[in-house]
Amino acid sequence: MKRFLLSGILIAILTFNIASAQTKITVQTEESAGVIDRHIFGQFSEHLGRGIYPGIWVGEDSDIPNTEGYRTDVLEALQDLSIPNIRWPGGCYADDYNWRDGIGPRDKRPVTLNVFWGQVPDENSFGTHEFLRFTDLINAEPYLSVNVGSSTPKEMSDWVEYLTYSGETTLTKERRANGKDEPWKIKFWGIGNESWGCGGNMTAEFYADKYKQFATYARDLSGNELYRVASGKYNNEYAWTDTLMRKAGELMDAISLHYYTLPTDDWDDKGPSIGFGEDQYISTLRNGLKMEDFVIGHSKVMDKYDPDKRVVLAVDEWGIWTNQLEGTTGGFLEQQNTLRDAFLASTTLDIFAKHNDRVKLANIAQTVNVLQAMILTEGDKMVKTPTYYVFQMYKVHQDATRLPLELDSPDYSFGDITIPALSATASKAEDGSISITLTNVDPKRSHKLALSLEGLGSAKISSAQILTADKFNSYNTYEKPNTVVPKSFKGASLKGEQLTVDLPAKSLVVLTIK
Ligand code: AHR
Repeated sequence: MKRFLLSGILIAILTFNIASAQTKITVQTEESAGVIDRHIFGQFSEHLGRGIYPGIWVGEDSDIPNTEGYRTDVLEALQDLSIPNIRWPGGCYADDYNWRDGIGPRDKRPVTLNVFWGQVPDENSFGTHEFLRFTDLINAEPYLSVNVGSSTPKEMSDWVEYLTYSGETTLTKERRANGKDEPWKIKFWGIGNESWGCGGNMTAEFYADKYKQFATYARDLSGNELYRVASGKYNNEYAWTDTLMRKAGELMDAISLHYYTLPTDDWDDKGPSIGFGEDQYISTLRNGLKMEDFVIGHSKVMDKYDPDKRVVLAVDEWGIWTNQLEGTTGGFLEQQNTLRDAFLASTTLDIFAKHNDRVKLANIAQTVNVLQAMILTEGDKMVKTPTYYVFQMYKVHQDATRLPLELDSPDYSFGDITIPALSATASKAEDGSISITLTNVDPKRSHKLALSLEGLGSAKISSAQILTADKFNSYNTYEKPNTVVPKSFKGASLKGEQLTVDLPAKSLVVLTIK
């Protein structure tokens, strides 16, 4: 009896400790850990499935409300995300693409085969001019992906001249005849995509030579300075990066990295996007965190050739890739998007922010209707996904100064997997306001956080929002679009330089302090 009583007391003490234990976080508000480049919040829109047609482009004659042929609801939603850059036309599609198919009067454009994604016809009504007008409308910078796999340096240099040269040539006259007098300023150019795979199945040595050839003929014209991104590898395949950096590093501004998070780690059965259990919830988040190892690994290889970190690691494809939704077309990569995916996004963005010395460009795949989309559409209906709201909540970090942050996270475990429960980023904007994003992925346990905001002086919490839902696999539908949306958050208080946050289970909170 005495033994039971004692163990009961012990359990009570332990439980009390768990419930009342505070996680200490220190933020140095007067120090800088570099700028969080806004371009890590970039998007990717490929001619794939229903991503462009009809996710973005429906044409001027459509019954779906549109602005110059672009869905008005999608435009408005994207405008609100302050998207810094958007990558187009692929992906694997890019290395089959001839830019000339997408210019001139739309009714005269050829219908080509989208051979990689579903072998469906592409009417090319969304071409170069339409893409660049789209970037204007959403106030993003274009990031063009050049065909290296099935094209020539000449085809690419003609595109550069057509777009960016200010003088009179046959190509620029053609541009003018197609409605654009002034040249565009276009900074980001990706030279090949997955050139080791769908972009030509090349060896690293062969691609490095190809890259040098293409990069040479991608010229800066009329004051437009190109930022050349070489096609990098997948996951932890560091040998490719090594060869590229050794042979061609001097000719590049960035080298890409692609990494998709699979819930199961199995490409043949990736796991569903809805209705999954805690096993796949935690395995997805654990797999997402591998991004940090890959960023560190590639960066280390790059350091050998570029210790000053001039060359950027551009994670220009990332996100969760699940089994396609039942009833959707094969090869269209349509999936739902849950609270789990929101946390995958927030924890990945925290990794990019933390490694802001190398990662200054990144693109989530993909903007509308494909993979980890911001937006889903069906006919004239549109819904914003939980991931959309993460990008909205993280806007505060765009081009802000990262503040050094120390966090020793408690664990979250399920089955034989253990991951950190907490992830965070703190930054200071130009106006001096400080924003902190805090994610607690533990679906059962809230955490009390004690943040020391060293050097803060006197300030107040000026805004506080939370993204959470009943379940970790909750999602938004056309009928119930507000299941996972940010709400005002009341669980934070600031006394002097001490910020206390009661961070609920499975939640993301953004706080701004002025
Ligand atoms: O985003 C879907 C595809 O994934 C891209 O086209 C390709 O680059 C990657 O393999």
